[in-house]
Amino acid sequence: MRQSDVDIIRTQVEVVRRTNLRTGVDRPSGFRYTYLCPSPSEYRWQRFWDSCFHAVVMARVDPELAVAELRTLIGAQEPDGFIGHISFWGGSFFGDMWGRLQSTYAWRQQHTALIQPPVLAQAVERVAELLGDAWLPTEFVEPLDRYHQWLAEHRVPDDDGLLVIISPYESGMDQSPTYDEIMGVRGKAGRWGLSIRDRWLDLRNTIDNYNSDKLVRANRFRVKDALVNALYADSLATMARLHRRHGQSRMADGYASRASTVVASLMVKLWDRSRGAFFSVYGAAERRTEPLTVGALMPLVVQELPEEAAQMLVERHISNREEFFLPYPVASVAATEKSFDPRSKGLIWRGPSWVNTNWLLWRGLGRHGFHDLAAQLAERTVAMVAQSGLREFYHPYTGQGLGARNFGWSGLALDMAG
Ligand code: GLC
Repeated sequence: MRQSDVDIIRTQVEVVRRTNLRTGVDRPSGFRYTYLCPSPSEYRWQRFWDSCFHAVVMARVDPELAVAELRTLIGAQEPDGFIGHISFWGGSFFGDMWGRLQSTYAWRQQHTALIQPPVLAQAVERVAELLGDAWLPTEFVEPLDRYHQWLAEHRVPDDDGLLVIISPYESGMDQSPTYDEIMGVRGKAGRWGLSIRDRWLDLRNTIDNYNSDKLVRANRFRVKDALVNALYADSLATMARLHRRHGQSRMADGYASRASTVVASLMVKLWDRSRGAFFSVYGAAERRTEPLTVGALMPLVVQELPEEAAQMLVERHISNREEFFLPYPVASVAATEKSFDPRSKGLIWRGPSWVNTNWLLWRGLGRHGFHDLAAQLAERTVAMVAQSGLREFYHPYTGQGLGARNFGWSGLALDMAG
């Protein structure tokens, strides 16, 4: 890895820290917010998993901002523990009509009613680690307990412990081919209708006023997603560690056992040994989705994953130069898939490489002892971001930057640089 590349990324991150910073007092609640928006031109509100990643990036350049970002995200928490995927700080009701289609009817609601992949506990732990502040998590543990409680009560309907998502937006990989079949998309032509189908689902969910229990039962989009559940298992395991460090062993044991249940269910329901990857299941019948996407690899982040599965994921797929480890890895869809589109024009998550999934897989590689591949992935990611700037996603063959500019979470390359 070239030091000059790392310096370039640090400068880019410093720029984003200024251009994406949003501060103010939220009128209805009087809450003082501080966060980085994902991209000033495309995404102006606080987003759940972006914010978690931003906190990690900021821990590298501005520790105070890292903590403020986490506090603002917790500031969006409802009394019942829920945290929405978009928080409209300082926004007016008519400020974001699409976002309102993902919210309940409540007139003054300042956030959507959707979730995003659970990475908040991991962000809190990582920020504490980077800042060398073992006591930092203390203030976050109680809200994190309530957050996990909400997930368990409203989104874990079965005794397999797996989390259900009710919209592709909840996966964070909005238009991934994983969901094509569920969304009724067939063939190339069908893809162009996907954005409309997404909005149609939003509308139907809005009519049900985003009642989670009802939507989980409604079966319109009921997915036990590989990436979401991998991060859920990781989140539960992280909570176990945080509680253990604070001497709360009963709580720690509870989280650890829930994490084990999720891992066991991932192995029983989502793991396909013949294909060596994890496939999301959907509907009441829990049919397996078929496309091989980056989500299918994500259980690698789980420390407790059986070694045989980790090895197959890495050897057959992650390191595979025909599928995911293209010149600028990791492709969001295997290059061998019919749906693979390296530019992903007009749609997202259909081929290009994303820095957040690289960061997560890089952690997974390290956890399972694949240090050489982890180093290669870090080196390629740093080269890609230094070359093309902080963009939303990147062409996996050329490294060309695509999508939104000044995109915050791509600064995770700085964390990968070590
Ligand atoms: C895209 C991504 C989503 C992210 C958002 C803001 O919609 O799919 O995961 O939160 O952009 O960056």
